Amino acid sequence: MRRTSFALFLMLFLAACSPQRPQMPAALAAMPQAERDELLQGRSLYHIRGCAACHGIAGHGNGDRASRLVPPPMDFRLTNAYLQGSSQEAMAATIRTGLTNVKSAMPKNPFLSLEERMAISRYIIHMRENYK
Ligand code: HEC
Repeated sequence: MRRTSFALFLMLFLAACSPQRPQMPAALAAMPQAERDELLQGRSLYHIRGCAACHGIAGHGNGDRASRLVPPPMDFRLTNAYLQGSSQEAMAATIRTGLTNVKSAMPKNPFLSLEERMAISRYIIHMRENYK
């Protein structure tokens, strides 16, 4: 009996000492699961596909490659400046084709699925709303 309670004490002690898991921001935690999954997938792809290198980690158009580009990468906050539309659907289309009527460094991504492009666009909207 004493041994059991000691084991229990030890388990609780170790659990209390173990490093805390990073807390999810409250806005994310409150989201329905499907929406959160899309957002997190979009965030991964935004970085993996190199969008951040031009558009910046917060989407302000100031990534590492930005200073060498004319025109500069879009600052996603400037919703009136988008040439092909700033809605989730419009951006998902632009990610596939690039900018079609202007010469710019914006690449096309024909191998990303619609789901992936919608997820990235969702993350762009998230940046717009949260990273002022
Ligand atoms: C090599 C640099 C570069 C990379 C990489 C890049 N972009 Fe761009 N992006 C640009 C430039 C330059 C523009 C055009 C800005 C302008 O015309 O004013 C642009 C414009 C845009 C626009 C606005 C289009 C419009 O309607 O005007 C969106 C949305 C966008 N990029 C999303 C993305 C996403 C998502 C990725 C990653 C999949 C990405 N970009 C990767 C450089 C880049």
